[in-house]
Amino acid sequence: MKKQALLQDYNLNGLKLPNRVVMAPMTRSRADNPDNVPTEELHGEYYKQRASAGLIISEGSQVSKEAVGYVNTPGIYSEKQTEGWKKVTKMVHEANGRIFIQLWHVGRMSHPDFHNGEKPVAPSAINPEAKSFTPDGFKDTVTPKEMTIEDIKRTVQDFANAAKNAMEADFDGVEIHSSNGYLFHQFFNGTSNHRTDEYGGSIENRARFLFEVLDAVKEIMPEKKIGLRLNPSLDGIFGMKMDEETIPTFDYIVNKLNDYDLAYLHLSEPFNDVSDVPYAVKEIAKHYRPIYNGTLMINTAFDQEKGNKVIENDDADLVAYGKPYISNPDLVERFEKDIPLSDWDEETFYVPGKKGYLDYEAKARKEKV
Ligand SMILES: Cc1cc2nc3c(=O)[nH]c(=O)nc-3n(C[C@H](O)[C@H](O)[C@H](O)COP(=O)(O)O)c2cc1C
Repeated sequence: MKKQALLQDYNLNGLKLPNRVVMAPMTRSRADNPDNVPTEELHGEYYKQRASAGLIISEGSQVSKEAVGYVNTPGIYSEKQTEGWKKVTKMVHEANGRIFIQLWHVGRMSHPDFHNGEKPVAPSAINPEAKSFTPDGFKDTVTPKEMTIEDIKRTVQDFANAAKNAMEADFDGVEIHSSNGYLFHQFFNGTSNHRTDEYGGSIENRARFLFEVLDAVKEIMPEKKIGLRLNPSLDGIFGMKMDEETIPTFDYIVNKLNDYDLAYLHLSEPFNDVSDVPYAVKEIAKHYRPIYNGTLMINTAFDQEKGNKVIENDDADLVAYGKPYISNPDLVERFEKDIPLSDWDEETFYVPGKKGYLDYEAKARKEKV
């Protein structure tokens, strides 16, 4: 019998994946120690449990102190954090897994509570009118400080430094988090970027910061180990509003990514119903597949059937699963054996400790014993 599409192996620009099932990046807020260091007991164990994934993409990890925007997320800018991650990657590799780290800067989605009362930075001083997840719970976002050219150059270097640390920590690659309303997305979008210098105005200018980061990171590590994430049809979430330039902007970015030999482009289908939004691409994989020449990873609300179908239709090469991976550490084996999935508990997504993190049963594995 022919193996289902999700379970066929894949050559990710030189990295051999045993299947097409990817664990999507997910913030879990378990680095509740003063230096935001990932630990073997929590992060190591969590990712090891999920090592049968074709590829794991880690939770968003801030590239600097300035980049943080959620409570207890791990960083990848200090030596302690790098040492912590080294232990995590070792555990994943010993379990025959592969893991990329997601490099994150939240920009204006941060809050002064993270920065001793200082404002967070962003392309322009425009409040997203959203909520920040601070140590004291959800708080209204503030009007951020507009980044100077010097701030931008420093941030480009922060990404390069984080990439260097990621290689030092033995990750198989990095994913640049240019999605979901965070810093890069704030540069792309005309409603969050009112700059009049070379980082604002035209589409090329609004995409410039991303390509400067990409160029800096590829000085540090091979392009084939760099992945990149975009959420082109994000509307009304994390302060993002689409406009008539949104589609041309993402088309430009995706086209230009063809100049690079990346590990993959990771796209999300719309997070919410955008059927009434005139500026939205409704079917992301179908729209971008013909534009992008490299490996396409697709995400959002996929189950086993839809995942197999999107690959069979050749609309994507890999499928990233988010919430199903929280509650099914053995997702690949469940797909193999057609075992129903367990439900996730939203109450424990972002709380400290093992509960709702390490205690989901790997039912499909137990049955194998
Ligand atoms: C608890 C949680 C944390 C998340 N954290 C991140 C993150 O750190 N970086 C990111 O790019 N997306 C993050 N996401 C979005 C997921 O990667 C994914 O896009 C989303 O859950 C939709 O996929 P799904 O329908 O398979 O869950 C998060 C989602 C959840 C549920």
